[in-house]
Amino acid sequence: MSNHNHPFYNPQLSYEDNYKKGPFGVFTKKPDTSSLLQNPVHFLGCNVNLPFGIPAGPLLNGKYVKAALDWEYDICVYKTVRTKKYKCHPLPNVLAVHPDHKLSANIDTVLADQNYDLPISITNSFGVPSFDPDVWQPDMEEAVNYAKPGQVIIGSFQGTLGATSHIEKDYAEAARLIDETGAPLLEANLSCPNEGVNNLLCFDINKVERIVHAIKNTVPDKPLILKLAYFKDNTLLYSFLERLAPIVNGFCAINTLSIRPINAHGECALGKDRPIGGVCGNAIRWAGEEMVSRLYEWRANHNENFIIIGVGGVNTPEHYHTYRSLGADAVMSATGAMWNPALALQIKKIAQ
Ligand SMILES: Cc1cc2nc3c(=O)[nH]c(=O)nc-3n(C[C@H](O)[C@H](O)[C@H](O)COP(=O)(O)O)c2cc1C
Repeated sequence: MSNHNHPFYNPQLSYEDNYKKGPFGVFTKKPDTSSLLQNPVHFLGCNVNLPFGIPAGPLLNGKYVKAALDWEYDICVYKTVRTKKYKCHPLPNVLAVHPDHKLSANIDTVLADQNYDLPISITNSFGVPSFDPDVWQPDMEEAVNYAKPGQVIIGSFQGTLGATSHIEKDYAEAARLIDETGAPLLEANLSCPNEGVNNLLCFDINKVERIVHAIKNTVPDKPLILKLAYFKDNTLLYSFLERLAPIVNGFCAINTLSIRPINAHGECALGKDRPIGGVCGNAIRWAGEEMVSRLYEWRANHNENFIIIGVGGVNTPEHYHTYRSLGADAVMSATGAMWNPALALQIKKIAQ
């Protein structure tokens, strides 16, 4: 079997089985990295050997984070956690998608199946599951302590609608729980559903501002990154940045683009109750690159110094370099790295 049949997350298995039995493929071994020369750079008060890593999601727990650190991903985001246990959607959680034209940001209808061909694009549909803090806190702490000099762990979190009377309180509580693990950096996932008119939380600027103030009041001294979706509209993006850029430390963009995944019979591929899925991987690289360019341009024009983490469709070392040339201070790969776990090593060998 070729390498692409061995992603480190197995899409055929349930989330719980991946959590318990994974990671898979080459992530079960340690690579020989003795000949690597490292050249650390500054990243939000930390040193990282290469500003490249894996964003929130595929690193389900400490075992996955440790494997990614061994495979030279120097910025590893521990999967988004919540203040309480939250169930995962049933299978399927990961299907390959095959857009027959450039994907738009307008919820295209796209064929989804189990032909995981490269370069890979997938729809992922998990519902951001989480274990209780008494499970993930000690596990995250262990992962944080495993990182070598030049490597850093980011703790990703989100609030849960209805968990408390105000979502901002739940975001702040999640940030506090992560802070207790010793993770040096925080990332708030805002590309999740919102109540009311704005379909994603990050498009509701007033609410985001309240959330960020609540987090900063609770954990004032830890750098905070906001995970953003693709903004179609510069007017909204610029209003967002005017309000949020002065009070946070970085932006990570993008999360998935939404589509309607269908099977060969035209039915909802994720099941009737899940007509919409998020696409990640190769098909969204254009959108990630575009967001990085827009963030970079805005930052240059506004004398701000937040960091920009570019995410979306990175499958090769060239994609990493393109994102960097567009202004990303760091780059991450989820889908690309899942199917090509040696990606960080490939970038390091080419870079040296
Ligand atoms: C399996 C999987 C799970 C994900 N879960 C999360 C998550 O829990 N929180 C989050 O902010 N993003 C999540 N994402 C989105 C990624 O962090 C990333 O933004 C997106 O996949 C685009 O990057 P890519 O094209 O390299 O996959 C997930 C992605 C994948 C593939």
